[in-house]
Amino acid sequence: MSNRPNLDRYIVNTLPKIEASLVSFLPQKPNDIRSSLHDAMHYSVTAKAKRIRPLLTLLSHQLFNDNPQKIMPLACAIELIHTYSLIHDDLPAMDNDDYRRGQLTCHKKYGEAIAILAGDTLNTFGFELLAEELPKHFHPKACLKVITKLGHALGINGMSGGQTLDLFGTKTQQDLNYLESTHLKKTGAMIQACLYLPALLEEKEEEVQIHLYQFGTHLGLLFQITDDILDVVGTSKDLGKTSGKDHQQEKLTYVSLSGIEGARKLADNEAQKAQEILTQINYPTHLLSDMVTRIEMRTH
Ligand code: IPE
Ligand code: IPE
Ligand code: MG
Ligand code: MG
Ligand code: MG
Repeated sequence: MSNRPNLDRYIVNTLPKIEASLVSFLPQKPNDIRSSLHDAMHYSVTAKAKRIRPLLTLLSHQLFNDNPQKIMPLACAIELIHTYSLIHDDLPAMDNDDYRRGQLTCHKKYGEAIAILAGDTLNTFGFELLAEELPKHFHPKACLKVITKLGHALGINGMSGGQTLDLFGTKTQQDLNYLESTHLKKTGAMIQACLYLPALLEEKEEEVQIHLYQFGTHLGLLFQITDDILDVVGTSKDLGKTSGKDHQQEKLTYVSLSGIEGARKLADNEAQKAQEILTQINYPTHLLSDMVTRIEMRTH
């Protein structure tokens, strides 16, 4: 047991590398009117965040390869794109939130126009980064496939589609199937991407790609169920965003449908399914397994 790699230690060692890479990948700050766009991107990207997605990407890649720098562009592109999704999620036309990552939301600080543009720019820049950096380390065919798959995970059948279901189905759709489909798209698709795209880039056998994708399905659901729970039981200070918003906005969530205890049971069910899939993967998955527990038990 004693020489089993430890997730806490891994995270402490890895987070500074992720933070440094995120900043180093950002484009140069222009010396004209566009500097406020750069400021807004930098403000939202460098705010205090958990970096779950880059951590998952690096952990997945580590199953196959011991050079994390190869996969850092993918880990960071996903985090930049995730940051875009948060900036837009917070806009008045969407969830209308004032706080995010422990500070004013991007639009509260820089105004709506710049916040929209900061989101747009982080999204497109993420793909620019992938197209530029991935072919330095991986087969061009695998790179193209990854870019296609990530685009898909963010589109109408992924994050944006899920956000649409989230925003417009709430009042009329009150069933678990609708909610699961929403959460799988708005949150799950990107978490799946973190997990199976490293295997795709490393051209690993299809079976392991499928297992990591399925693992991501359950981990993604677990992540969003715990987000729904924390909106009710967490404090704004711990969360770095306003708690109680889902109830205030009458969102359809796992808690609104099943109550706290029901949501916890469903979360536990997803955690167990995720762990079961890991047992089928013939690579050392203990850190990913510890990540499941960490996400289930998270307080922010
Ligand atoms: C928040 O994501 C949006 C959801 C998908 C629930 P995170 O909880 O990962 O937020 P950050 O990145 O740590 O700020
Ligand atoms: C957002 O879900 C998911 C995204 C795609 C950004 P939420 O609306 O529940 O995220 P929070 O609670 O505002 O972080
Ligand atoms: Mg939302
Ligand atoms: Mg929101
Ligand atoms: Mg939420």
